[in-house]
Amino acid sequence: MIKVSEHIENLVPYKSGNKIDRNITREEFKKLINLASNENPLGPSPLAIEAIKNNIGELNIYPDPTSPELIAKLAEKFNKDPKNLMVGHGSDSILQYIFYTFFKKGDELLTASSTFIGTYVNANKQGMTTILVPMKKDYSFDLNAILSKITLKTKVIYLANPNNPTATMFTHSDFVKFMAKVPKDVLVILDEAYWLYAKSMPGYLDGFEFENENLIVIRTLSKAYGLAGLRVGFAYAPEYMINYLNRVKLPFEPNSLAQIAAVAALDDEDFIGKMLEVNHKSMDILLDAIDNAGIARTEPSANFVMMILDNEVKARTLCNKFLDNGIVVRQLPMFGLPNAIRISTGTVEQSEKAAKVIYSK
Ligand SMILES: Cc1ncc(COP(=O)(O)O)c(C=O)c1O
Repeated sequence: MIKVSEHIENLVPYKSGNKIDRNITREEFKKLINLASNENPLGPSPLAIEAIKNNIGELNIYPDPTSPELIAKLAEKFNKDPKNLMVGHGSDSILQYIFYTFFKKGDELLTASSTFIGTYVNANKQGMTTILVPMKKDYSFDLNAILSKITLKTKVIYLANPNNPTATMFTHSDFVKFMAKVPKDVLVILDEAYWLYAKSMPGYLDGFEFENENLIVIRTLSKAYGLAGLRVGFAYAPEYMINYLNRVKLPFEPNSLAQIAAVAALDDEDFIGKMLEVNHKSMDILLDAIDNAGIARTEPSANFVMMILDNEVKARTLCNKFLDNGIVVRQLPMFGLPNAIRISTGTVEQSEKAAKVIYSK
């Protein structure tokens, strides 16, 4: 038998929000209303679907490893130099490359106690040490507490804004003050998977406005653009970082159809407009129900909100009640929050069904 290192032995396979404890098939799962994965309830961008249909006949050809059309589209859309951009097989993949490129066994990651699990996994895969800083009372990142934990061993700080699973955000001015105090040899990863949902929030932080030599910003087309199954993420960083990452990155990701669909989706303003409108309406429906049911919650700035129950048993009971009504939501023990539930916005109709379950708590 081939031996693996201790840190690989200790890894546990990822369990997605698309899995539930009841013994059902994937087909049966698809018939449920899935409000557990922060997916786009409107489906994929129609322009992306059309682009895939029009290009399906070219699957025999390798994509260009420099992804020129997609990089050019991102550069145009965000008014950035292509040298500062890279793309990958989801932002998850880019996150993995960041850890693989810049860190090694024993290096220290500093982040919040309840944030995107992929980050902890990447640190564990490298045999790194993770220092978890408790969130503030409102379940947002405590940037000052994170600053106070920086030591000579700290190599990377991970921030998600808005944060998954708490849905909270910090502001532009919070971040400016924070970056001014972070040592220049500590890499800051700013994960903006949900940036499009937060754009209209007061104090919105746009990571693409910064040019710090120790900052990388990652985004995804999985959420707002509805392309989670296709896997397209992108990053904005100083040129030297992009150059290192491109040495490590597998040459042909994202795949050719993903690249073509992403180029089309990035122009799909109609879809984004509809998506934001539905998200807004659905969020109002959910928040109304949660507040009227007397359930504590976070202040959401994305396409989901976190409900906070008195204890783990009450959270599980409510999750089961959702499931009995054909709705999947996510209890959060793996984020260190066993008494909390994350619920994503659905279509207006789906959100109304979810609201009924919450009201009848
Ligand atoms: C904060 C955050 N970052 C990254 C990701 C991964 O996104 P992708 O589908 O691009 O890999 C997610 C997915 O849920 C997320 O919530």
